[in-house]
Amino acid sequence: MSIGKFIVIEGIEGAGKSSAIEVVKKVLEEYNLEYISTREPGGTKLAESLRDIVKSADHCETVTQETELLLMYAARSQLLANRILPALNEGKWVIGDRHDLSSKAYQGGGRQFDDKVMDLIAEVTLKGFKPDLTLYLDISPEQGLSRAQARGELDRIEQEKIEFFHRVRDKYCQIAASDSSIITINAGEEMPVVHENIRQQFSMFIKSTLENN
Ligand code: TMP
Repeated sequence: MSIGKFIVIEGIEGAGKSSAIEVVKKVLEEYNLEYISTREPGGTKLAESLRDIVKSADHCETVTQETELLLMYAARSQLLANRILPALNEGKWVIGDRHDLSSKAYQGGGRQFDDKVMDLIAEVTLKGFKPDLTLYLDISPEQGLSRAQARGELDRIEQEKIEFFHRVRDKYCQIAASDSSIITINAGEEMPVVHENIRQQFSMFIKSTLENN
């Protein structure tokens, strides 16, 4: 039985997460490794309901920053217990479209929650659990948001001002620089170049994982 790993794709809106995930899936298939894919917030029935609440721009009352923070972690707790951990225990690989680093970047960086608050809530929810590899797709907010805008209507978070996304990106970069399990991919390059970088980095990770087992 193979040893499953948790691989996360991160980045601001318009960074190209969806097509990056397709590259990761293809590489796993080339190695005949079984996988599931998830997204955050979401990935279980209850967590998907929380996703709808958190993304909707049509609430008749303000969604407070505290509500947003707690909903992200509530959704993560459901996903971890009901999908991620069971799949890893069965030896499957798990591809995550976002995980805890998103909260650190959006709520910690964007909303400016204190690091101590962020660490505590992560500890309560995740109890030390962390991805084996994160591919962070780095792109300027200007470039990313223009791609997101071209896709259509913006959700509640996507409607934030550009300064918000600068704080999010700064936090992503700051954390990525101090954590060797996070690989930064320049997502501002042409798509084929970005995808080739992802393929190379991820293939290297798989090879070293298989060699060590
Ligand atoms: P997306 O998956 O389509 O990018 O939408 C998820 C949105 O939720 C995106 O704007 C980022 C945001 N988000 C947070 O603010 N904190 C989190 O912890 C997560 C997982 C997502």
